[in-house]
Amino acid sequence: MTRDEPFGVYVHWPFCKAKCPYCDFNSHVRHSGIDEARFLAAYLTELNYFADRAPGRTVSSIFFGGGTPSLMQPRTVAAILDGIARHWAVADDTELTLEANPTSVEAENFAGYAAAGVNRLSLGVQALDDSSLKALGRRHTVDEALAALDLAKQNFGRVSFDLIYAREGQTLLDWQDELTRALTYAVDHLSLYQLTIEDGTPFAARHEAGTLRVPDSDKASAMYRLTQELCEKAGLPAYEISNHARPGSESRHNLIYWRGHDYAGIGAGAHARITENGIKSALWTIRSPEAWLAQVEAEGHGLASDESLSAQEAAEEYLLMALRLAEGMDLARFAALSGQAIDETQLHGLEGDGLVARSGGRLVATSSGRLVLERLILELAA
Ligand SMILES: C[S@@+](CC[C@H](N)C(=O)[O-])C[C@H]1O[C@@H](n2cnc3c(N)ncnc32)[C@H](O)[C@@H]1O
Ligand code: SF4
Repeated sequence: MTRDEPFGVYVHWPFCKAKCPYCDFNSHVRHSGIDEARFLAAYLTELNYFADRAPGRTVSSIFFGGGTPSLMQPRTVAAILDGIARHWAVADDTELTLEANPTSVEAENFAGYAAAGVNRLSLGVQALDDSSLKALGRRHTVDEALAALDLAKQNFGRVSFDLIYAREGQTLLDWQDELTRALTYAVDHLSLYQLTIEDGTPFAARHEAGTLRVPDSDKASAMYRLTQELCEKAGLPAYEISNHARPGSESRHNLIYWRGHDYAGIGAGAHARITENGIKSALWTIRSPEAWLAQVEAEGHGLASDESLSAQEAAEEYLLMALRLAEGMDLARFAALSGQAIDETQLHGLEGDGLVARSGGRLVATSSGRLVLERLILELAA
């Protein structure tokens, strides 16, 4: 790590109005209300902690994720941004993203977030038909989502939205129509996720009971390939498995993760990677918002775990992240992290199978390789 490398700050807001039945993110519903001022004080305290662990860095990206950060008051967002700027230099062109749900109440906050300095909005549209939104347990309609998208375009220079495909009952043709429409609304970035049945969610229970039928893996792969094709044609090629952007509009924050750079992570259930004296540590905080709050107030941080990674672990993590990217992995960076280059025989074998390709010192997963990425990573890491 050099001090000039990009450095990010992730802020996790762990609350939602309701829990969507497919979601296993660290998000909680609190009907009794949230003491936002107390949480803000705890975020500022945890920032102090991370500033001590990563001094002298220049922040190139800040990301408010969740949960539903668009439930935060704009003044809370502004105060956290002020806190970040008190500890680190913040680059002039810093990407400042906030994830928002497209209900009308939340959209009312957009101008306030923009005034606070947010310059990129990521909107959870998820589907472009009302019956699918209902089936996903969403609290907004398509009309509301499109109105929120319009408002986002008026307030932010950069706008992304998320859709989930391979939903219950969805055919390839349905997805083709939906994505074609979505591309007409797209600004500079789209995140297109294949529905994952996450353990422990209501969707997993229904899937196991046979009452939730999602497209099989062949159909889902066909949807994935169609996604690549349509987005490429529309000028938003994939730069990562599920992320598409006009060239130059890739999410800098996500690139920090996938290129293996450092980032601080504050809030309940946030992750961080910090390099100190050449050793990278993986840190994460307590998931329960109240337990996190209590520990930050008592100890100055909400960490549940803080582990230094061995050279091998740091290199494997980089491999895992970087092969998701269209630009692939820098082989020299891998060798520097692990202390040894990837085994040539292994590489030749995978190249022969058409799963990876090498160009200009980088290793890239081919389109067939990306479909079996987990296997590929296991073999390369072995
Ligand atoms: C943590 S959510 C936060 C965004 C915001 N709360 C929302 O729901 O719009 C980030 C994105 O992950 C995606 N996501 C969450 N669970 C998923 C699942 N089980 N399968 C596929 N995508 C999922 C959704 O597209 C969602 O917008
Ligand atoms: S998908 Fe978004 S709104 Fe729904 S529970 Fe997860 S984080 Fe909350």
